[in-house]
Amino acid sequence: MNKLLTTLFALAVASVTSLALAQASAPAKPAAAAAPEAAGAKTLEAKTAMCVGCHGIIGYQSSFPEVYKVPKIAGQSAQYIAAALGEYKKGERKHPTMRAVATALSDQDVKDIAAYFQSLGQDANAKLPEKADKQPNDQVAPLLTKAACVSCHGNNFATPIAGYPKIAGQHADYLFVALKSYKMDSNPTMGRSNPVMGAVAKQFSNAELKELASYVSSLETDLKTVPEHRFRR
Ligand code: HEC
Ligand code: HEC
Repeated sequence: MNKLLTTLFALAVASVTSLALAQASAPAKPAAAAAPEAAGAKTLEAKTAMCVGCHGIIGYQSSFPEVYKVPKIAGQSAQYIAAALGEYKKGERKHPTMRAVATALSDQDVKDIAAYFQSLGQDANAKLPEKADKQPNDQVAPLLTKAACVSCHGNNFATPIAGYPKIAGQHADYLFVALKSYKMDSNPTMGRSNPVMGAVAKQFSNAELKELASYVSSLETDLKTVPEHRFRR
C-alpha cells in the first residue's frame, strides 16, 4: 500500500473505533461517514458525526458520574453551545468524555458545530408559551423564587439571557446531574466551576435540586434529540 492509502486507512480505522466506543448500542454506520475527506478540509458532516453517536440517539445514557440521559443539544443557542464546549476545553467542566471531545475541536469547528445544532430540527413557526406552561407545586414554587431562576433562564425557562442555556424540557436526570455538578467546583475529576450557577446550586439540598430539575424538565421546549443525521442519504 502506498503512503496516502495507509494514512487514509488508519484514519478510517480510528474513526470507526471512536464511533464504536461512542455508540456501543447504536446501529452500525458506514465507516466513510466519519472519515475526513482530506486533511484540513473536514466537512460539517465529518465534524458532527461523532456527536450524533451520543446526542443523536433518543434515550442514550451516560454512566459518569451516574446514569443519566445525554443532554438534548439541538435547538440550544449557538452561543451557549460554544461556551459550554469552551468550558470543557478549559477544564471548567470536568466531564472526561466531553473534555476529550471538545479538546479535539478547533475554534472554527466549534463555530460551525454550534451553528449547526442551534438550527437542527427547529421549526421557524413553532411558538413557545411566554410563561411556563405549568404552575410549580407548593414545594417547588419557593425554590424557584429563592434563586430567581427566571431572571436568567426566562419566564418560560426557554428564552434565557443571550448565551445562557435553555433548560425547559431538558432531561430531568441530566438537569439534576448538572445542578449537582455546580456544587462540586473544586473536585479535580468531576463537576463544574461556574461562579453564577455555583452560588445558585449551593443554596439547595440535592433533594431540592431534584424537585427543581423535575419541574423544569416538564415544561414545553424546543430542545430536541434529532436521531437522523441531516446529511444522511
Ligand atoms: C460519548 C458520548 C458523547 C459524545 C461522542 C459527545 N457528547 Fe456531548 N455530552 C455528552 C455527555 C454525557 C454530556 C454531559 C456532560 C456533563 O455532565 O457535563 C455532554 C454535554 C455536551 C454539551 C453541554 C450541553 C449542555 O446543556 O450544557 C454540549 C454542548 C455537547 N455535549 C456537545 C457535543 C458535541 C458538539 C459533540 C461532537 C463534537 C459531542 N457533544 C459529543 C456525551 C457525548
Ligand atoms: C444569575 C443568572 C442565573 C440564575 C439566577 C440561575 N441560573 Fe442557571 N445558569 C446560568 C448560567 C450562566 C448557566 C451556564 C453555566 C455554565 O456555563 O456552566 C446556567 C446553567 C444552568 C443549568 C445547566 C444547564 C445545562 O444545559 O447544562 C441548569 C440546570 C440551571 N442553570 C438551572 C437553574 C435553576 C433551576 C435556577 C434557579 C434555582 C437557576 N439556574 C438560576 C445562569 C443563572
